Amino acid sequence: MLLIYSSLKRKESTLRYQYPSRIFAHRGGGVLAPENTLAGMELAYAMGFKAVEFDVMLSRDEVPVLMHDPIFGRTVAGNGQVAQTDAAQLVQMNAGMWMGKPEFENVKVPLFSEVVEYCRNHNIFMNIEIKPSCKKVAARTGEKIAQATLDLFSGETDPSKIPLLSSFSAEALQAAQQVAPELDRAMLYTIIPYDWRFQLQQLGCKALHTHYKTLTPHLASLIKTSGYGLFVYTVNDRKLAEKMFSMDVDALCTDRLDLWAETATPGFVK
Ligand code: G3P
Ligand code: MG
Repeated sequence: MLLIYSSLKRKESTLRYQYPSRIFAHRGGGVLAPENTLAGMELAYAMGFKAVEFDVMLSRDEVPVLMHDPIFGRTVAGNGQVAQTDAAQLVQMNAGMWMGKPEFENVKVPLFSEVVEYCRNHNIFMNIEIKPSCKKVAARTGEKIAQATLDLFSGETDPSKIPLLSSFSAEALQAAQQVAPELDRAMLYTIIPYDWRFQLQQLGCKALHTHYKTLTPHLASLIKTSGYGLFVYTVNDRKLAEKMFSMDVDALCTDRLDLWAETATPGFVK
């Protein structure tokens, strides 16, 4: 019995999702550059980050673009909706002015394909968060983004460079699973539900991503011993990060790139 258990444990540990970095730059540049833009990715790269998280949504003509909010008004000026605007128009829209910094004044909404190209060229690993603009389009959003990822990475021979898809939407992840079963997936939670294990199994997820506040040492241990990768958002404090890593969290994302920038804090293990 013990033999079976230990061989199962060994199997689990060899299968566990391997994050290429412990620290991911949240929304590209965190709070130091306009979120979900090429300028954000450039900053993450300049600060020595090897991995980024960003949000992807569909335009009216179903082109994946980087965007967090379904409505304009916060990072993009105006009153419209992303899902009611074609990609050709979205890429003309300013996504940097809101920061009030002259260097970001001309930053535009980027296409998903442009950001993938930049990250691949700079060897930056991507956690692609599928962000449906509403529940009605969740499955379609998962399907289109998974398909776009497959197309963009066709011919990639190094599995460690293939992005990790994540979403708060089970429908989106299920659609991604159908279109691209070979792409790794992570279920994203604000609060970890009692049936997390069932949900992850159903969706064939390799990892659980959650808000750090809902994670307890007991839950973390259950998730890890069940063989899943464990990632928390959004950690903007070094002490908190240490606490998370002491609970065996594999990786986290941060808005405070400066706290982990290679140049600012040499010696910190990423
Ligand atoms: O993927 C982790 C985190 O980005 C989820 O929250 O709202 O920043 O997309 P949000
Ligand atoms: Mg996100």
